[in-house]
Amino acid sequence: MDSIRITGGVPLSGTIAISGAKNAALPLMTCGLLTDERLVLSNVAKLADLATMAELLTQHGIAAEPEGRTLSLGGRITNTEAPYDIVRKMRASILVLGPLLARVGEARVSLPGGCAIGTRPVDLHLKGLEAMGAKIKLDSGYVDASAPQGLKGATIVFPFVSVGATENLLMAASLADGVTTLKNAAREPEISDLVHCLIAMGAKIEGIGTDTLVIEGVKTLHGAEHPILPDRIETGTYACAAAITGGDLLLQNARMEDLGAVLHSLTDAGVVITEEQNGFRVTRANGLHGVDVMTEPFPGFPTDMQAQFMALMAVADGASMITETIFENRFMHVPELNRMGARINVHGSSAIIRGVKKLSGAQVMATDLRASFSLVLAGLAAEGETTISRVYHLDRGYEAVEQKLAACGARIERVN
Ligand code: EPZ
Repeated sequence: MDSIRITGGVPLSGTIAISGAKNAALPLMTCGLLTDERLVLSNVAKLADLATMAELLTQHGIAAEPEGRTLSLGGRITNTEAPYDIVRKMRASILVLGPLLARVGEARVSLPGGCAIGTRPVDLHLKGLEAMGAKIKLDSGYVDASAPQGLKGATIVFPFVSVGATENLLMAASLADGVTTLKNAAREPEISDLVHCLIAMGAKIEGIGTDTLVIEGVKTLHGAEHPILPDRIETGTYACAAAITGGDLLLQNARMEDLGAVLHSLTDAGVVITEEQNGFRVTRANGLHGVDVMTEPFPGFPTDMQAQFMALMAVADGASMITETIFENRFMHVPELNRMGARINVHGSSAIIRGVKKLSGAQVMATDLRASFSLVLAGLAAEGETTISRVYHLDRGYEAVEQKLAACGARIERVN
């Protein structure tokens, strides 16, 4: 199993090109199930999770052919079962449920189990599809869904915001009979990207960027070409890398408007962000100060930036409190950061971080995707050598980490 070895203490300097967003690409790829025509996605990152989604789509009958940064999806649905062996690797597999049901009136999708960051049920996806007329049974760990007469438009009010449920129902509603209204829908930039792609495929959707999406179902969707938006979480992560090392990074392709509350939290912490022609530059004027954050749906502070921001706060002046409101078990990086000399205590859903002057290199273990990068950040700032094991977590969602960081001066290598 691969590890990453970092010798810390180098201020990063240079340009990092931000890749296409993983969490936009996953639902966009499942749009390939919504049409017989070709869907061509560009700005596709090379990531393990996207390879898993390609594998899933292929066994449904939709070939996913990569060519450089482009992915061409096409074919006919030949199989409506998403097997446990693929779903257990990646929970986003549940996103095939809405498209399969809407398109061919049946789907059998393995229930994703819990995961390292929380129990993560999918009840909102299922209730929403039921409200649209689907019959759903749970059988031997699978969701058995059918809609022999097709799905019908409905008004669905989400009790709380869910990115995945909003995406599944958006795709299903695009081919349903009548109008569907999604209230309290997620407003993440990845949702807007999905809406843009669906519209390019012929869907009729209003309310883009708001929490109320109105979808007028159409009989068929056609092929389209769609460029995937830059990854806002990768952007925020590398902004933290510039800040924690006291470096100067130009984040190419990065979009400030997609950062939401991360922009303000970084600025409050003393990070300087300057807009440039095709992205922005991140530097640090003086020291870092402790800032409190609470994770929330977009445009609030994203849970997917919580671990990385905590690494930054671990070396800031003063104390900060980070409250996690989205997932119940997303502090697994805390004991690992503490092994590197951080002073972090967890009380329920909040972590109190007392900044230290220096972290020190150690052997640590990655527990999930974003937690892994918080350890990379800590390693970049620490004195001495840090070895991070279980880096397969990192490969699921960050493209070419060592190459991007090494090009900016980091002493980082992958070891087997
Ligand atoms: C998406 O997961 C992202 N994944 C996650 O990114 C991200 O952390 C999360 O949204 C929140 O922003 C993808 O986009 C592929 P949710 P998703 O449904 O859609 C609860 C990363 O690191 N819930 O918005 O699964 C759920 O348990 C990953 O890239 C229900 O209770 O998240 C959570 O507490 C990790 N019932 C909250 O809602 C449901 O039916 C928000 O989850 C659905 C969700």
